[in-house]
Amino acid sequence: MSKIPVILNVDTGIDDAFAIALAVSSEFIDLKLITTSFGNCPVKTSTTNTLRILELIGRGDIPVAVGAAGSIMSYLQTVVGSAAHGDDGLGNKAALLPYPEIIPSTMTAVEHMAKTIKESKNNVIIISTCALTNVAVLLLSHPEVAEKIDGIAFSGGSLFSGNVLPTVEANVFSDPEAAQVVLNSGIRVLMCSLEASTGAYFTFEDRQKIRQLETRPSYFLCEALKHHADHFENLLLREGSVLHDIVPVAWTIDPSTVETKPYYIEVDLDGRYTRGSTVADFPKQRRANAAVCMKVDREKLVDLVVEGLGKIG
Ligand code: RIB
Ligand code: CA
Repeated sequence: MSKIPVILNVDTGIDDAFAIALAVSSEFIDLKLITTSFGNCPVKTSTTNTLRILELIGRGDIPVAVGAAGSIMSYLQTVVGSAAHGDDGLGNKAALLPYPEIIPSTMTAVEHMAKTIKESKNNVIIISTCALTNVAVLLLSHPEVAEKIDGIAFSGGSLFSGNVLPTVEANVFSDPEAAQVVLNSGIRVLMCSLEASTGAYFTFEDRQKIRQLETRPSYFLCEALKHHADHFENLLLREGSVLHDIVPVAWTIDPSTVETKPYYIEVDLDGRYTRGSTVADFPKQRRANAAVCMKVDREKLVDLVVEGLGKIG
């Protein structure tokens, strides 16, 4: 069985850390490269967090390339930091892990992505769990790689809701122009909308299942998840921490974990209170440019993560 070559673009981040672990655990994914971005924390921190997580799960061999420190239109807005992820991006638990010994690539994220895609025998899937800046700059600066990208699955966007503004989701808010470039690229896109990814929540019992694996990674990830759980329980007034970023990885491993509908999606780039909204053409007058994830199978996702973490560490 040939594995799917994957490039993962992250702003690690608690749910990004789970996304990395899930991707690494899968027998269907060949994780070729991780690129980092600003978002939940500054790019320097998200890079260190990514290296820490890779060391923790024993995959220091996967290259990590440093990416964008801000959005394409940084002078309009650059959003860095998130209460959900704590000051260090890992629920204020990063110091439980040693400072990483592995170091990032000497290439930039965009250069390393281009090289990886060109050298790959099979077409690549890009999974993005943060602002799409690195991916958009890749497509703009190396248009020749587009034909070797089988799909771009991203965590972000929304149809009816928001988590930074009433209709705006954080990853698209962080770089609306980049999301628009990706949606207009002609490449197959999966948008894992906020409405669907909010369904990827882990209860106290689910956390216990992870903890009971009794490995170093499961211990650390559970500690980080506790911070996340407190945040989401206060915000959503219900039990459970939401791991948005596992959704595009789960789809790549097993498409039956999500339900999708095709829509034409355009990013609002001008709105005063709606800039970064992903607006769907509900009357379906325009040809779809994305499969939008509408719903997740929560139980399947929890099983996939627990099973995956069971193979690590
Ligand atoms: O809106 C959820 C997204 O914002 C997730 O990717 C989370 O990690 C943050 O980046
Ligand atoms: Ca993220």
